[in-house]
Amino acid sequence: MTQEKLAPATAPAVTETPRAWTRRHLLDVDDFAPAELEAVMQTADAMKEVLGRDVPRVPALRGKTIVTLFYEASTRTRASFELAGKALGADVINISAGGSSVEKGESLIDTVRTLQAVGAGVLVMRHWAAGAPYLVARHLQTAVINAGDGAHAHPTQALLDLYTIRNHLGDVQGRRVVIVGDIEHSRVARSNIWSLSAMGAEVIICAPATLVPEGMRPAGPHGGRSNGDSSQAHALPPVKVETNLDRALENAEVVMTLRLQKERMQAGLLPSLREYATLYQLNEERMSRARTGALVMHPGPMNEGIEISPGLANSLQSVIEEQVTNGVAVRMAVLYLIVRGAKP
Ligand code: NCD
Repeated sequence: MTQEKLAPATAPAVTETPRAWTRRHLLDVDDFAPAELEAVMQTADAMKEVLGRDVPRVPALRGKTIVTLFYEASTRTRASFELAGKALGADVINISAGGSSVEKGESLIDTVRTLQAVGAGVLVMRHWAAGAPYLVARHLQTAVINAGDGAHAHPTQALLDLYTIRNHLGDVQGRRVVIVGDIEHSRVARSNIWSLSAMGAEVIICAPATLVPEGMRPAGPHGGRSNGDSSQAHALPPVKVETNLDRALENAEVVMTLRLQKERMQAGLLPSLREYATLYQLNEERMSRARTGALVMHPGPMNEGIEISPGLANSLQSVIEEQVTNGVAVRMAVLYLIVRGAKP
């Protein structure tokens, strides 16, 4: 973003691409160094300033076309990518698999090649198959941003979560963050474990044993084991696993709760929703075990009354709406870095 392209008096603080950024695609945050995460955070600060203006628009990506291609449902991720692209002056086209030539039997690769051929400079894609954006990135010159692939990764969600936490707590180093719910099927949990661990947070995951990813499953009936196993090719960083929510919440500074991803679940993982809610619902009474003022987060969409009580979701501790708002600035940052910061 050069100064002269922006209204001079109101130019964002970032006038050149942070050196730490060298990526052509954003597929996951699993290999992000702290400096790269920091680069996104700083760029997002500049974007937030842009969004606070009377006319929240800069021409940084004017002439670029961003295509969002979604094979799964989405409200906030898609809307915020679209708003982010428009705030940067890009043209944005939204395509859903339903209603596109995918319904006529076109393959994923043919679909994305078509989008590249019509001029897509950035492809933001969500797919039900883990790894789909990696496959696409290998076939295209167009930059690819993963907006969620199966249960594998959701990098921009992890970035906006990190951004939201930092806005409240400052440094994330040493902070105790509890992620509670359906970890097994959650790309949000996986990407957050990577980014939060890279920034030095103490991550605790809490779920019934059937919803803890294999390799992390608690050893005994009471859980509490650490997954120190680094022998797996792509093992998650070590986190503490706790199956008892009350214990997990002790001294927590951030608590993130997740939806039960029924669309990815096989039958028989939970005895009943009612039992799940009794044992794992985050509510005001339970949150009293965490540190006073601990942040309550949820990536959405929420099923109030199941993983979170309506009272807590709408309480002063909740930063759930803020997460959504920050999603626009963070996605602007990612789009900007991908387009302007990529090495030739
Ligand atoms: C999440 C997703 O789609 O991975 N939502 C989101 O992007 N904010 C979580 C979910 O669907 O439960």
